[in-house]
Amino acid sequence: MEKYNIEITVKKFQLSELSDEERLWIDTAVISSKQAYAPYSQFNVGVAVILSTGQIVTGSNQENAAYPSGMCAERVALFYAGARYPDIPVKAIVVVATKNDVIQPHISPCGACRQVLLETEKRYNQPIRILLYGSGVAYSIDSAESLLPLSFSAENL
Ligand code: THU
Repeated sequence: MEKYNIEITVKKFQLSELSDEERLWIDTAVISSKQAYAPYSQFNVGVAVILSTGQIVTGSNQENAAYPSGMCAERVALFYAGARYPDIPVKAIVVVATKNDVIQPHISPCGACRQVLLETEKRYNQPIRILLYGSGVAYSIDSAESLLPLSFSAENL
């Protein structure tokens, strides 16, 4: 038997340690969370997807009375970016949750969204920085691949 440990590096930033641009990304994600359609969970998630050109594409969770038909904010934004700007790589994504307009502690993408992040990373052959913001603190992960160890991708087909 051999044993492997898989490590990921997470960087923790106070808001004051972030650049003006990064703070703008976070503000944009917060605003986007307020456009969520989340009548069932009341849990509003906002995302800013940053393209390599600097353009920002936003998304928010879109729920449905038939629960599984809803969609997380991350995939709403990533799919929109892919549909609207198919030739422009994604360089970062910022995720924020609000409840009753109050920013919640940071949240991390669900498994399905991690899989879509990974596909986007491979599609453009460029790592996507993942910034998880909440309660004055941002956690930064350098690539989607590290959020999904032992992943399945087109290389397996
Ligand atoms: N949600 C997201 O949009 N992104 C996440 O990273 C976690 C969860 C949504 C799905 C659902 O609309 C609500 O938050 C509660 O799970």
